[in-house]
Amino acid sequence: MAHHTAADPFNAVEEGRRHVLWAWLNATGAVHRAVLPHGAPAWLITGYEEARAALADARFAKLGPSSGAFARKLPEDVARGIHSHLLYLNPPDHTRLRRLVTAAFTRRRVERLEPYVRDLTASLLDRLGETAGETGEVDLVTRYAYPLPMAVIGTLLGVPAGRQADFHAWTAPLMSPELVGYEAYVASAVPLLGLLRELIARKRAHPADDLLSALVQARDGGDRLSEDELTSMAYLLVLAGHETTVNLITNTVLALLTHPDRLAALRRDPEPSEAAGRVVEEALRHDGSSQTTMPARTTADVRIGGTTIPAGDLVFVSLLAANRDPARFPEPDRFDPGRADRGHLAFGHGMHHCLGASLARMETRVAVSGLVTRFPGLRLAVPRRTLTRTPSVTMNALDALPVLLRDAR
Ligand code: HEM
Repeated sequence: MAHHTAADPFNAVEEGRRHVLWAWLNATGAVHRAVLPHGAPAWLITGYEEARAALADARFAKLGPSSGAFARKLPEDVARGIHSHLLYLNPPDHTRLRRLVTAAFTRRRVERLEPYVRDLTASLLDRLGETAGETGEVDLVTRYAYPLPMAVIGTLLGVPAGRQADFHAWTAPLMSPELVGYEAYVASAVPLLGLLRELIARKRAHPADDLLSALVQARDGGDRLSEDELTSMAYLLVLAGHETTVNLITNTVLALLTHPDRLAALRRDPEPSEAAGRVVEEALRHDGSSQTTMPARTTADVRIGGTTIPAGDLVFVSLLAANRDPARFPEPDRFDPGRADRGHLAFGHGMHHCLGASLARMETRVAVSGLVTRFPGLRLAVPRRTLTRTPSVTMNALDALPVLLRDAR
């Protein structure tokens, strides 16, 4: 039986409230009928088994490039240049693109980035320490978590130092189209697309040992990425790789600051990198970056969780709910990096499983362990219950994470 729900985790801003609502939904069933914040009817899948099954089932199809932000209003070449990407595509287009792109996104490339991420983190930490006042009160969202992934993506794409400021200014509005509106969106999308085209031309003329060059050169038999697919892929890296990583860094730090025993254990561990890896993995399960995956539409009537979702309906899979399904994870609300059961869905599952998962894990591990090591007195500057979450269907972001870097002298 499908339950029609009025519970609205997407607009639940009070810290912790979102999880209470998802848990309540999960307790009443695995599949729910709901109305989204902007009024559209949709199905929410909350049970772990059902979520995993839906993500592996091609009858839950992504909505196509025309579902991209302002797709019908944008100049056609701009829409094609930014929306021809994996998260809007289905087989066979998705299969073809994913095969080409996977070859460029190697583990080795991520491993080689680690020393750079460490340096970057160290300089961000220096700056945090220098500019904070007596007690070192800072907002970790804007001052630490936000700049790191943006710099990493800029480097992956080979954005020259002199263009980084432009790059940052253009990408911010693109991450919240509904908030900034069409004019601001197009005013960022057009110059960013211009920059991406320029970078791609440069890599084509002078290939370097970087991700963008690898994408330009990617071949599968006679097949290769078209110009629109290349710019869209670069654009997707900006969108998929930024805010998600910001959220994971801050959600992980919050979990540690509210579980001092876990924080102490992390600091004591003789294998800090492994211990931080376990903390990040549990943070992904316990309070992941994404509330839901990108929407899908059923291409046929689908029977799932005892309910039939009719063909043509809009469906959201709740990763937050699935990852705290008590049928899959005992005592799901407990933050326990020692947990034996793996298999969280925070990076999605199936054909759209996150391509940047190992990069995101590495960045977060380095960022979190760097922070807690540099500032032994690190603690929340405000009571946890006063923290707030940004209203969103897809993201699970803290508005701010005010901390004290050191004890008052
Ligand atoms: C904590 C950080 C991250 C999280 C939690 C995350 C989560 C996800 C999820 C849930 C999906 C599947 C969405 C769906 O099925 O609708 C996805 C897809 C994707 N992610 Fe990530 N992501 C993160 C970081 C990154 C990074 C750093 C990159 C690259 C720089 C990246 C690149 C991608 C790409 C390209 C896809 C599309 C794959 C496809 O459709 O085949 N992500 N991510």
